[in-house]
Amino acid sequence: MKIGFIGAGKVGVSLGKYFKDGGLKIVGYYSRNKSSASIAAEFIGVDSMEIEELVNLSDVVFITVNDDQISKVWEFIKKLNIEGKVFLHTSGSLTSDAIYAPGVYSYSLHPMFPFSDKFTTYKSLGSAVFSLEGSRERVDELKAMIESLGNKVFQIEKDKKPLYHLSNVMVSNLVLSLIEKGVSYLEGCGVDRDVAKEALLPLIKLNIDNISKKSFEDSLTGPIERGDIGTVEKHLKIIPDADIPLYKALSLNLVEMAERKNGKERYYELDEYLRRQQ
Ligand SMILES: NC(=O)c1ccc[n+]([C@@H]2O[C@H](COP(=O)([O-])OP(=O)(O)OC[C@H]3O[C@@H](n4cnc5c(N)ncnc54)[C@H](OP(=O)(O)O)[C@@H]3O)[C@@H](O)[C@H]2O)c1
Repeated sequence: MKIGFIGAGKVGVSLGKYFKDGGLKIVGYYSRNKSSASIAAEFIGVDSMEIEELVNLSDVVFITVNDDQISKVWEFIKKLNIEGKVFLHTSGSLTSDAIYAPGVYSYSLHPMFPFSDKFTTYKSLGSAVFSLEGSRERVDELKAMIESLGNKVFQIEKDKKPLYHLSNVMVSNLVLSLIEKGVSYLEGCGVDRDVAKEALLPLIKLNIDNISKKSFEDSLTGPIERGDIGTVEKHLKIIPDADIPLYKALSLNLVEMAERKNGKERYYELDEYLRRQQ
C-alpha cells in the first residue's frame, strides 16, 4: 500500500518517518505551507507535492492536520477522484464520519502517544498503542499494517469515541492538572515551585512504575487504604473549597479499590464520611 500524508506537523512527520523506517512505502507529503511539506519530505527521503498528485499516487492517505482543519481538507479531497482509496485521520476525538464519502474507506487511527517534536518522537513510537475505528471492509488490512511495525492496535466502535477520548484526557491532561495542584499545595508550605516539583516527582514516577508492574489494588498505599479517617479529616479541613469535590470523587474511587483488596467492612465508616462531604 502506497501511503501519502496531508499535514506535515508533529504527527504526520513522526508517523511518516516511523512507517518508512519500518518498511512501509511512503509516497510523499502535502501541507498548507510548502516549506513544511518539503522539510518533512527531505527528512524522510520522499517527495513533497500538490494535494491532487498526492491523493492520486496514494492508496492510503493520512490526514494529519489539526482537528479543526480536517473537515476543510476533506471538503476539498472528496471532490477528487478517490474511489476505492483508504483515508485516515489521527484525531482522538473525531470519528471516521469526519472523512466519509461514498466509495472510499474511512478511518480514525489514533496513536495513544504524546507527539512533542517533529524530528525525534518517531524514535519512541515502538511503544505506542493505536486505536482504530471505521469501515469494516479494510480494517484487518490496516490492523496488519500497524502490527507489522510491532505496535498493538485495538478496534473501537464509533459511538464509544467520546468515552475513549475521555479516557485519554483523564490520564494525560487531567493528571497534569492534578500534579500541578499537588505542587501548589507544597508551595503553600513555603516550598519553592521548582523544588516542590522535584520533590514530588519520585512519588509520581514510582506510582506509575508500580501500576505498570502490578494491579491497581496492589499498588495502593496511603491513608485511604489504611482506613485513617483522622488523616482524611485533617485534609478536608485545609483543602481549598473548590477542590473538595475532586478530593471526594478520587478518594471514593480509592475506597472501592481498597474494598476489593481488603474487604468492605474496614471502609464502611470512611465511605460514609466521604459521601457526606460537599
Ligand atoms: N500531538 C499529539 O500528541 C497528538 C497525538 C495523537 C493524535 N494527534 C492528532 O494528530 C493530528 C495532528 O496533530 P499534530 O500535533 O501533528 O498537529 P501540528 O503539529 O499542529 O500539525 C498539523 C499540521 O497540519 C498542517 N495543516 C493545517 N491545516 C492544513 C490544511 N488546511 N491543509 C494542509 N495542511 C494543514 C499544518 O501545516 P503547515 O505547517 O504547513 O502550516 C501543520 O503542520 C490532530 O488531529 C491531532 O488531534 C496529535
